Amino acid sequence: MSKGTYSLTTPIYYVNAAPHLGTAYTTIAADVVARYQRMNGFDVAFVTGMDEHGQKVADTAAERGMEPQAWCDSMEPAFRDAWDMLDITYTDFVRTTEPRQARSVQEFWQSIYDAGYLYKGTYEGWYCVHEETYYAESDLEKDEEGAFICPDCKRPVQLMSSGEENWFFKLSEFQEKLLAFYEENPGFIRPETRKNEIVSFVSRGLRDLSISRSTFDWGVPLPFDEGHVAYVWADALIAYLTGIGYADPERPGQFESFWPMNYHFVGKDIIRFHCVIWPAMLMAAGLPITHCVFGHGFLLTKGEKMSKSKGNALKPSDLVGVFGVDAYRYYFMSDVQFGHDGSISMERMVQVYNNELANTWGNLVSRVMNMTKKYFDGKVPAKCEGAADNPLRELAEALYAKYDVALAEVDFTSAADLVQELAQRANRYIEETEPFKLAKDESKADELSCVMYNLLETIRIVALYMAPFMPNTSAEVFSRLSLGDITDIADIEALSVWGLLPEGNAIEVGDPLFPRLDVDNLPDFE
Ligand code: MSP
Repeated sequence: MSKGTYSLTTPIYYVNAAPHLGTAYTTIAADVVARYQRMNGFDVAFVTGMDEHGQKVADTAAERGMEPQAWCDSMEPAFRDAWDMLDITYTDFVRTTEPRQARSVQEFWQSIYDAGYLYKGTYEGWYCVHEETYYAESDLEKDEEGAFICPDCKRPVQLMSSGEENWFFKLSEFQEKLLAFYEENPGFIRPETRKNEIVSFVSRGLRDLSISRSTFDWGVPLPFDEGHVAYVWADALIAYLTGIGYADPERPGQFESFWPMNYHFVGKDIIRFHCVIWPAMLMAAGLPITHCVFGHGFLLTKGEKMSKSKGNALKPSDLVGVFGVDAYRYYFMSDVQFGHDGSISMERMVQVYNNELANTWGNLVSRVMNMTKKYFDGKVPAKCEGAADNPLRELAEALYAKYDVALAEVDFTSAADLVQELAQRANRYIEETEPFKLAKDESKADELSCVMYNLLETIRIVALYMAPFMPNTSAEVFSRLSLGDITDIADIEALSVWGLLPEGNAIEVGDPLFPRLDVDNLPDFE
């Protein structure tokens, strides 16, 4: 029986560049949660997509001599293929140029217009096309010649004036309401450091936000003034709603059951949009607010933010080619604490791969499967009765409660560590019990059977809890234990009960799950 609904999103990614390690990072994090909560009995909605409107995308298309729509269409396979390669189980992929998105955007802004939160005025100020963001002059930096540049991406900013009329959202009216909301919902912005940053930003006062443009038409026309298209952020955020059926007559009841969402996962550079503008928009539209915006850190290579424009962006496919998709997912989720910046390097990736995957998890599976083949003709032996002194059982039975809390809090590192700990304990248990010696003494047959059952059962449970991180390897281990399809599991807690591995199941030894890698023998991507 379903425990209810669980919903989360990645950002809706700009189409001006193909997915890179940074965008893949957020998407894998969301996928680990989506997979786990499905195994945990929830009905999951997991929304991702492409942000296709706005000046930046229009400019990129023009540089390539293409129509914007044709450019966006040409980028869709890059995203879909990357997410397929990384085994991402999104439930909806929203393109902001789809008709259903236009319908959502129009219905959403019409409701805010009707509620009296919009007015027409002129905007005079600075805009960075790369960031698609308005800046106050006091926030700008200067280049060597003294010209204003964007404080985030350091590119030149544009002065927007020319008396262009815009629609404005009365964001300034929401200052007190937002501060009260943060106070009452301390878990809304995480981690804590980002919350402090947002609270102090809002406390300094908010200016109304221009939400429309009339100087170009690459966007969704506003229903109450068709000569204006929605500002790209006033469009893309609403894709979160579209992805769960908002304003969609073909998906009745879906929006109501999945909104508000559990999480928006975003990088720390876009938290103001998600923690200030977005909740104010939702308040104005009379909708409840997502439970948590989690602003994760940046992946750094050699101390710098990785980005395509800096030329230090490795492609996910480069790393998947060397490590395989499961090890790739595992590394980023276990080694980079979600919420903090994390330095990544090939050397460190090889180290984690060899220690935690090849030597611990992979080695455990190989040793135990080989011994089962040798001593029990490749069949799961009888479990022992009254196994009070079984350290593996004790650890395995305590796992669900701790792991569930860790993943509910999106502490991926702790969740992965808990499973690692069980695999490590099992390797130590082999050293302690010495099954290879027991096998030489016929009077120890019961003891040997007991030890081997405990090890095989531990492998089953480790595979269960590794599955959200490393779905392919866990499916493979389940198959080697003659167990059913791991992707069908919807009650991980019930399946964590000790002793469920059936006696007599045929086991398969198979190839090493994670062949060791030699750090001196890797391709150079620099
Ligand atoms: N289109 C907007 C989001 C709209 S959501 C309604 C956008 N798109 S983006 O393609 O630029 O998204 C980038 C996302 O990837 C951001 O969350 C950003 O923080 C993240 N990353 C980009 N480079 C990154 C790293 N080097 N490391 C980790 N994540 C980083 O913003």
